[in-house]
Amino acid sequence: MRIENENVLNALPDLGVELKPSASLAEITCLGIGGTTDLLALHRHYSIPDVVKLLDAAGIAFKFLGGGSNLLVADGELPWVVLQLSQPDPDVVIEGNFAMVDASAELGRTVTLCAKRDLGGMEGLIGVPGTVGGALRMNAGAYGIQIGTYVREVTVYRSATRTIETLKGDQISFEYRHTSFAPDDMMLAVKLELPSKPFREILQGIRICNEKRRASQPLGQKSAGCIFKNPPGASAGRMIDELGLKGLSVGDARVSDRHANFFVNAGTASAGDMLSLIAEVRERVAQAFGLTLEHEVVLWLA
Ligand code: EPU
Repeated sequence: MRIENENVLNALPDLGVELKPSASLAEITCLGIGGTTDLLALHRHYSIPDVVKLLDAAGIAFKFLGGGSNLLVADGELPWVVLQLSQPDPDVVIEGNFAMVDASAELGRTVTLCAKRDLGGMEGLIGVPGTVGGALRMNAGAYGIQIGTYVREVTVYRSATRTIETLKGDQISFEYRHTSFAPDDMMLAVKLELPSKPFREILQGIRICNEKRRASQPLGQKSAGCIFKNPPGASAGRMIDELGLKGLSVGDARVSDRHANFFVNAGTASAGDMLSLIAEVRERVAQAFGLTLEHEVVLWLA
């Protein structure tokens, strides 16, 4: 979608918004799939309510984008524009056992910066791609660790009230790959409280997780991480593997040979290819195991 409304185009710079016309979401997302639309880079997070008011008044639909790591976006010219926080400098400020982190900060880098200040706990999250905001939104987790455990405060743009609010950790519920935030709330910043740990010990934990991940996940390939959530007490990857579906393809969308819950874009897969593959695998699992797998990947369908 191209913004053509002159009022909007003239007002954006004053709100600290940079227009990136016709951005390709295939180039931004980890799956490498997605059409084009105008991208609005938000240099001043606190102007979001005014930006939303402006877009609403002009009838321009929009979505909030994090790091694009857990996202499958439709092809073609998209019917909404995309809003993305730009990174302030610094994006991580550490005081004692607290880390104040901007939502746009890269998760892995945040884990490393905290480790260098002898703050641990998040070792398992080191290889999870994306931003801290995206990780918060869905309570990202790996190797027994979930980011929600360390959250003490979140500053968020609430779509329901159209205001920026700061919530205490205990006002938010963090469950397996799910939080009490609404799908169109935009994370802005978080205060984490992390346990003290010597850097060398944290590094050891990070190395172990990195090795496990390298051994079991297709790291060098374009993917959105796990496509499905694990059903209680089971592993979606193991079930798909047991059905012999590794390597199953629709166009260039392919079930990874390394981990069956990772679907990779092996070339120029379209959103349609990936959606057909997801539907096919879901159907086969339903027939074989009698359960419907829930998507973990977020779908932005036009
Ligand atoms: N397995 C297979 N075949 C496969 C994949 C897995 O047999 O193709 C078996 C493994 O051998 C293991 C079991 O299934 O015995 C579980 O596998 P794994 O340890 O890889 O964990 P997972 O349940 O498949 C979860 C998360 C990952 C996270 C890892 C490590 C979900 C949906 N997935 O995977 O998170 O990295 O544990 O903690 O919760 C993600 O959320 O995108 C993601 C990748």
